[in-house]
Amino acid sequence: MTDENEFEVRIRKVRSETSEIRSFEFEAVNGQPLPEFQAGAHISISPFPGVVRQYSLVNDPADRSRYLIGVKRELNGRGGSSAMHTQLHEGGTVRITAPRNNFALRPGEGGRRLLLAGGIGVTPLLSMAQVLAAQGEDFELHYFARTNSEIAFRDLILESEWSDRVAYHFGLVPPLLTEVLHEILREGGHSVYLCGPNPFMDIVRHCAEATGWPADAIILEHFSAEVPVLTPGEGEFVLRLAKSGIELVVPSDRTIIEVIREAGIEIKTSCEQGVCGTCITEVIEGEVEHHDLFLSPDEQEGGRLIMPCVSRCTSRLLVLNI
Ligand code: FES
Repeated sequence: MTDENEFEVRIRKVRSETSEIRSFEFEAVNGQPLPEFQAGAHISISPFPGVVRQYSLVNDPADRSRYLIGVKRELNGRGGSSAMHTQLHEGGTVRITAPRNNFALRPGEGGRRLLLAGGIGVTPLLSMAQVLAAQGEDFELHYFARTNSEIAFRDLILESEWSDRVAYHFGLVPPLLTEVLHEILREGGHSVYLCGPNPFMDIVRHCAEATGWPADAIILEHFSAEVPVLTPGEGEFVLRLAKSGIELVVPSDRTIIEVIREAGIEIKTSCEQGVCGTCITEVIEGEVEHHDLFLSPDEQEGGRLIMPCVSRCTSRLLVLNI
């Protein structure tokens, strides 16, 4: 994690939301309000060295006494979510990063917003629902889950004033899922905020396209970057490490990080998925092709920073300040 943004929080509450999902509530160790955030923001947590995970904040941003997250135990993952479930206990502390937001509500949109959640993807959308309701705005939250028993944050929804704007959809698979999505999307609206597993988001995107939604009205949350699959020879470039003058070739099937490591040079990484910010590096020369989800659009456009775990270069030469 990026050290300057890290701080310690106390684990105030741990709760089983479903058989696979636990919620964790954090508070500041000094009793002060936590750093502010906007709906859609996430924090990073390192449950053990070398692993960093991002979790969306579920609570209303107006409540700075706590950060609430939901963690689904992924049995086939790299152990990050399991460690969260087994090692974080009420009363303990954990280091987190300040909230960062790649999935904010667009300001001044007006009109009806559709919030579409697949499983644990509901977390940022719950924060959005609280903000939109407080602002008196029009929205619907559609929560897709395999079964009724897999609904997380049920109490938060049921106790809210907007619980009647939540529709639940259980056990839907194509073609029924597609039919239901078409029905929802055909009703129209201003924008769709979408979060869930990639296959679910792909189906929603196709349905949105088929029902006439413009691509820029669909706003997505990803938790790992989509890196292009290149054919051999395509996208190869020369990498120069400015501090040593070493030049290396980055072939189509290797990331910049892999090539640097293979040359015996150490570089600090964590997620290697373009989301945590650990590998951030200054660009001295070269046209960066960004694939990360960490840099802001302005930072990406500025071209002076790169996340070498996922991003590449479109010019022949890339010079990094390493
Ligand atoms: Fe996390 Fe590169 S290692 S963004």
